[in-house]
Amino acid sequence: MCGIIAYIGDKNCKDIIINGLKRLEYRGYDSAGIAILIPDNESDKDNTRNKIVVLKQAGKIKDLEESMKNLDFDSHIGIGHTRWATHGAPTQINAHPHTDCTGKIAVVHNGIIENYAEIKEELIKKGHKFISETDTEVLPHLLEEYNNGSPLEAMQKLLKKIKGSGAIVALNSDFPDEIIGARLASPLIVGVGRDGNFLASDIPAVLEHTRNFIIINDFETIRIKKDKVEIFDLDGKLIKRDPFKVNWSITSAEKSGYEDFMQKEIFEQPFGIKETMRGRLIDGDLLFEELNMTEDQIRNLNKIQIIACGTSSHAAMLGKQLIERWARIPVEVEVSSEYRYKNPIVEENCLFIAITQSGETIDTLAAIREAKSKGAKIVAITNVVGSTVARESDSVIYTHAGPEIGVCATKTFTAQIIVMYLMALYFGKVTGNLSKDQYEKIVEEIKFIPNKIQLILNDAEKIKKIADHIYKYRTFLFLGRIFGLPVALEGALKLKEISYIHAEGYAGGEMKHGPIALTDTNTTVVGIVPKDFVYEKMLSNIEEVKARHATILAIATEGDTEIQKYSNYTFYVPSSIEELYGILTIIPLQLLSYYIAKNLGRNVDQPRNLAKSVTVE
Ligand code: AGP
Ligand code: GLU
Repeated sequence: MCGIIAYIGDKNCKDIIINGLKRLEYRGYDSAGIAILIPDNESDKDNTRNKIVVLKQAGKIKDLEESMKNLDFDSHIGIGHTRWATHGAPTQINAHPHTDCTGKIAVVHNGIIENYAEIKEELIKKGHKFISETDTEVLPHLLEEYNNGSPLEAMQKLLKKIKGSGAIVALNSDFPDEIIGARLASPLIVGVGRDGNFLASDIPAVLEHTRNFIIINDFETIRIKKDKVEIFDLDGKLIKRDPFKVNWSITSAEKSGYEDFMQKEIFEQPFGIKETMRGRLIDGDLLFEELNMTEDQIRNLNKIQIIACGTSSHAAMLGKQLIERWARIPVEVEVSSEYRYKNPIVEENCLFIAITQSGETIDTLAAIREAKSKGAKIVAITNVVGSTVARESDSVIYTHAGPEIGVCATKTFTAQIIVMYLMALYFGKVTGNLSKDQYEKIVEEIKFIPNKIQLILNDAEKIKKIADHIYKYRTFLFLGRIFGLPVALEGALKLKEISYIHAEGYAGGEMKHGPIALTDTNTTVVGIVPKDFVYEKMLSNIEEVKARHATILAIATEGDTEIQKYSNYTFYVPSSIEELYGILTIIPLQLLSYYIAKNLGRNVDQPRNLAKSVTVE
């Protein structure tokens, strides 16, 4: 996820682009760049010979702004980009815009080109020269290749060639009065202004200039001129679409109408999961090239060691259950802060995995360094390209959840779980522990996860109503067993973090060994009780706390009416295979903590005492 902005019109585009990029910075912020068109020669009256100037910087928008100070000319057409890297580190060279061999075409892109490697190879054979590590760079070269005198037609041809996701915007110095855009599963809007027109990733980027917008749909291309906007379908047929008016404030627009980033990020989860699966699960086949391991090396593994902190450690715990069940490889999970100081034993044929959304958590970094010093090879699972953990690991698997702004991890957690599901399934297949039928059944179920999560989110209002009833309780116990245990721990962590209510996550069977003493009429027990092989056991555990007068909220499988005999409140998730309930049951718990915290008037995006990434010990 990144931010794109483009302008063509009567005004000087430099400030419009920089200010737009600042508004888009929340979407991605590791590097930024602009391409603007200036007349090659001021005396060139007919304006046919133009030149593109590209400026880019690793780092923040203000660094780019600083470097633009020397550009003492006006320009009326330009494109800008703030990057959230997916392919290639966040360096100056990898920053967008990218150009073709002639330097006449400049492109910015938001998304992932899945088939970029094969396209790049074809283009190199045809003599194109590449300088960056990005997937994006194939786009200007493809436009150059397809150039037949119409940048629009070249873009339409490109759209048929690429696979993946993208919002693409291109400038061509031979066509100084137009900007071309295209959309393939990444957002792109048109701002229709009085003194010119805009393309952008989202509305707030240009809300200060216009309130009239048009949304571009997948597989559509667009040509904007200073006084004209034209949208086309993939075959080049003109589409008529009128602008709509927006009355949002700029801040609410940044959150796309959601109240907070946390709420937005919870609701973005189906998309983050799809993006994370994209390119890894193709027609039933799993691709894990990033692991850099041969099938023999996987079959020879004696053990997998996973380290992580906080929410990421809960994803690790789910991963352990899955890998042990599907691949029968023993997995040990440890929190990084303990691992780093315990003089760990690093065994032969042990795969070492570090999970960290930020890639900057100091304890995880220190644990990696400790393991590396003892000869371990590290695989990182992270959401941030070019982060320190990514750089220091031997291989990296990226979650593509997009930047997470809220301190509370939500969408990055479910993206981590998806990676765990896919990895466990892959290991199960390679080790031969899963039969072909089992494998295919699981793949089918995994494909439905984004839709099932969407169904749960559609029911958010039900959780809100439950939260309205129970938000005043001062103790919450979250109980789960097997796949439900990491969910219980994560549910409790979410609630603690943003509502400041005392919450504990426990294994259902452990309650009677101590924590049940806490239970009284002031306690709410949240039971994770999907229809799995420990369902009956969980019912008994819930019975035990009910007998001690706790209020019970059950997270159960749709169609389970039995559970209502035990619970005061019930929230249903769609049915699934038992191994996949983890990712479904955590969604209502994220919503629960969100609505409880809102009822208590907490700042959910910036809870007290916490930081998004913990870079100190
Ligand atoms: C999650 O809601 C927390 N803010 C926290 O536990 C977090 O998961 C932990 O600090 C680990 O962060 P990381 O994934 O960036 O390493
Ligand atoms: N895949 C592109 C890159 O890594 C674009 C990423 C983005 O959306 O910012 O550069």
